[in-house]
Parts: sequence; structure tokens; C-alpha cells
Amino acid sequence: MNTPSASLLTVLDLVPFGQTGPENFFFALRLSNPGWTEWRPGQFMMLRPTNFGLEMPWARPFSICHMTKRHLICFFQVVGKGTKRMAQLKPGDTVRVWGPLGSAFAIEADTPTLLLAGGMGIVPFVGYAHRHPKPWNISMLFGHRQPAGCYPIDSLNERITVDSLRELESGDLDDLIFTIEERIKEYAEQKGLVLACGPLPFLKTVQTFAAQHGARAQLSLENRMACGVGACLGCVSKTTEKWPDHEENAGLVRVCKHGPVFWSDQVVL
Ligand SMILES: Cc1cc2nc3c(=O)[nH]c(=O)nc-3n(C[C@H](O)[C@H](O)[C@H](O)COP(=O)(O)OP(=O)(O)OC[C@H]3O[C@@H](n4cnc5c(N)ncnc54)[C@H](O)[C@@H]3O)c2cc1C
Ligand code: FES
Repeated sequence: MNTPSASLLTVLDLVPFGQTGPENFFFALRLSNPGWTEWRPGQFMMLRPTNFGLEMPWARPFSICHMTKRHLICFFQVVGKGTKRMAQLKPGDTVRVWGPLGSAFAIEADTPTLLLAGGMGIVPFVGYAHRHPKPWNISMLFGHRQPAGCYPIDSLNERITVDSLRELESGDLDDLIFTIEERIKEYAEQKGLVLACGPLPFLKTVQTFAAQHGARAQLSLENRMACGVGACLGCVSKTTEKWPDHEENAGLVRVCKHGPVFWSDQVVL
């Protein structure tokens, strides 16, 4: 079991993905190694760059993309004030990091495993594909709106089979939903494992089909978080009666502490 810790890390580099020019929205942020003895794919970290200054006291949650002996990688999309400030980081700047936090995806070496990623939901699967002892048992379906080059897909292609579906018009969404159902059905029949990360409507689709076809599935929830360590109750979700402690706390769980990864039949989305 790993104990979360806080460290002040140095920015090694910030690499833009996707289109080049001033309007970049996707970045890989490489930080110095935090010295964690262990981390598991699906876990996350709270980041607070020093350049947040006094205006932004709260750290932001990000999946652990990957960690090597030399560095820790966060992959992010600019969506608001905090991530905009992160896009201005320079080598040598510092970032306060709390981690590794929360629960992780199941790794079952010999079980056929289907990864379902929607948009930035691809991030925790980079580490997953690298840490899995038998990556040939994994395949991924990746639904995304932006060009594939905006996402860390190359490092996944090196390890596992990735089918990518880009959503450009409304018919593409129907295709994606159809394919998600087909793949979940296929994995349910072979008693495989289905792991999903992405926006809420994407997770709801996976949850519905997993229930319909009896697939074993885990979902990673991305509720808004303030403290990230279970202290503020800012990230609660409802559980079903299948959650082991459902009777406690009116069936509510803190996603930062009990999640972000849950078995699909144990949470209400
Ligand atoms: C466990 C976890 C892992 C995450 N991993 C990643 C990751 O690997 N890469 C990445 O780019 N993002 C990730 N996110 C989302 C990321 O935390 C938010 O995008 C970020 O906090 C936004 O900060 P901001 O100050 O730029 O935006 P704000 O100014 O706070 O908000 C701007 C917009 O972003 C939306 N937003 C804020 N937080 C979230 C959230 N948690 N989920 C969806 N929308 C949100 C707001 O509703 C608003 O529309 C993760 C979130 C969680 C909870
Ligand atoms: S973010 Fe504070 S309790 Fe989860």
C-alpha cells in the first residue's frame, strides 16, 4: 500500500500536442520524480503550480499519466483558469504535488481487457498499458472529438491495439455508441474485464451496456474536486446497494477517497 505524500517538483518540460502555434490546448507536463515507492494506474494526483499565486489557492486533480525513474507525467487539456496557467509553465518552475491518491484500475494479467477511453479519459490508460505485465491481452476503443495528434496515443500504439473513432458529425456518435455496445458484449461473453474513463455521458453509456450484457466493468469518475483527500465533501457520489458500505453515510462516497475507480454496478451516475 502506498502512502500519499506532498512534494515540490521541478518542471522538466512542457510539450504541446496537436496543432502548433499560440493556440495550443493539449500538453504533456514532465515533472521531476516525486520519489513515490509505488503507484497504480487509475490513481490521480493534486497539482498546484507555484504560478497559481494567491488567486488560485486550490490544487487541481489530474490522472497519473505515467511515471518512470526520471519523471512523472501529467497530460492535460486547457479548459479554464488553472490549466491556462499550467500551460505557461517553464522548465525550472515548481509544482506542489500530492499523490498518489485514490483507487486504481484492476490489473488481471491473463484476462482479456477492453479499455474504453473518451477524450482525455485516455490519460490513465497510458500508465495502464505500460504497467500491465501482458499488454497483448489489452485492446482499446478510443472516442475523441479533436484530431488524434492532440492525445498521447503514440505511446499507447507502441504497447496495445487501439481503435480510434473520431466524432465529427452526429452520425459518428451513433457509430461510437454502437461499437461500444458490440465490444462490451464481446468481452462479457469471454468473461473479460472492461475499464472506462471519459466524460459523464460516455461513462453512463458504458454503465448501461455493462449492466445489459453482464460485463465486469470499472469506471473512473471525474467529479470536481477541491481538497482531493476526503476532507471537504466536494466530490460525493451516490452508491448502489452493491457498494460494501452502502448503509453508511446515506449511501454517499467521496470520489477522491473511495474512487475515482469504482465497479460499474456500485455507483449511481
Ligand atoms: C480524478 C480526476 C482526474 C483527472 N485527470 C485529468 C487529466 O489527466 N487531464 C486533464 O486534462 N484533466 C483531468 N481532470 C480534469 C481536471 O481536473 C480539470 O480539467 C481541471 O481541474 C480544470 O481546472 P481549471 O482551473 O482549468 O478549470 P476551471 O476554471 O475550474 O473550470 C473550467 C471548466 O472545466 C470544467 N471542469 C473542472 N473540473 C472538471 C472535472 N473534474 N471534470 C470535468 N470538467 C471539469 C468546469 O466545469 C468548467 O466548465 C481530472 C479530474 C479528476 C477528478
Ligand atoms: S475533493 Fe474534498 S472530499 Fe473529495
